Amino acid sequence: MPQPTNRVFSGVQPTGNLHLGNYLGAIKNFAALQHTHECIYCVVDLHAVTVELVQPQLKAQTREIAAAYLAAGIDPERNIIFNQSQVREHSELAWLFNCVARMGWLSRMTQFKDKAGKDAEQASVGLFAYPSLMAADILVYRATHVPVGDDQKQHLELTRDIAAKFNHDFAARIRELGHGESYFPVTEPIIEGAATRVMSLRDGTRKMSKSEPSDLSRINLTDSADDISKKIRKAKTDPEPLPEDSKELGDRPEAKNLVGIYASLADVTVEEVIAEHGGKQFGAFKPVLAELAVERLSPINREMRKLLDDPGHVDSVLNSGAARAREIASVTIKEVRDIFGFLG
Ligand code: TYM
Repeated sequence: MPQPTNRVFSGVQPTGNLHLGNYLGAIKNFAALQHTHECIYCVVDLHAVTVELVQPQLKAQTREIAAAYLAAGIDPERNIIFNQSQVREHSELAWLFNCVARMGWLSRMTQFKDKAGKDAEQASVGLFAYPSLMAADILVYRATHVPVGDDQKQHLELTRDIAAKFNHDFAARIRELGHGESYFPVTEPIIEGAATRVMSLRDGTRKMSKSEPSDLSRINLTDSADDISKKIRKAKTDPEPLPEDSKELGDRPEAKNLVGIYASLADVTVEEVIAEHGGKQFGAFKPVLAELAVERLSPINREMRKLLDDPGHVDSVLNSGAARAREIASVTIKEVRDIFGFLG
């Protein structure tokens, strides 16, 4: 199959508490890219079981991510929306990539170290091999671009390393089988916008995260307008007014975070936010930010609730997406099996 030149792949884990960071850092960009690229968006349920083995809410949370994709405006006809475990080719390629990737590469992954914590001996092998599965997700579609938040940068570098080693080690077979000079693309990350790393509303030095115990630290996509306003009102800030120059945000993590969130929600630059709101006290800025957040997030929230009231519809989107994804992935697996030299 010819190498695609304009194909986007990305995914979100169905681990609950989908938040503003996921939306501004990833899903909002997913929706924008559908106008210029061929897009494949996945609910990565196989990744979700690497930390918590028993996940009673897995089905509901999988539907919730799919509903968020749809509510954010991703068109399931033009693009492919599906859940990872329905397309077994991801797992097969992940195994082969476990044999391409080196222990040293995976040992350097900071996300593994963060998630495994102090007791790495007790972490699952799946958590360690997580980045190989992520590389397989992307490369089974030979995707050329991957929109993500800043925290996924290292995993995407590993994906590039796996592609490069595969292309190098199998160069003769790849050429012999008529695939040209390389089989997998060296995928480009798309880490763009004012909110590539949205921080906790309670601590501007920590990333907004699904697993943070305090719900006040994040805005969930399922929060009501009142909750959104309350969380922004209670967000930690320093006592100074907003600066008149965006360069002065550098050592003010909470102020920088709120300005970045505003810029991303309003689709303007940080400089434009400062030009309009610089010099204001947080007492004046927070209500404007809350109003904007409610205006932007409420329609998504409403649409998600509507979709989740009709799980049959969400399931049918995922099933037909999986069938279309399988058509592409199965060709890659066939070709990769050939490159490896497996019999049959
Ligand atoms: P996950 O589920 O943790 O997050 C989904 C997306 O949201 C982004 N994100 C953020 N962006 C800005 N600020 C934040 N505070 C924030 N928190 C999360 C993430 O960067 C991500 O883009 N490993 C991935 C899922 C995955 C994947 C893939 C992504 C599996 N296979 C293949 C791309 C391609 C993850 O855990 O995302």
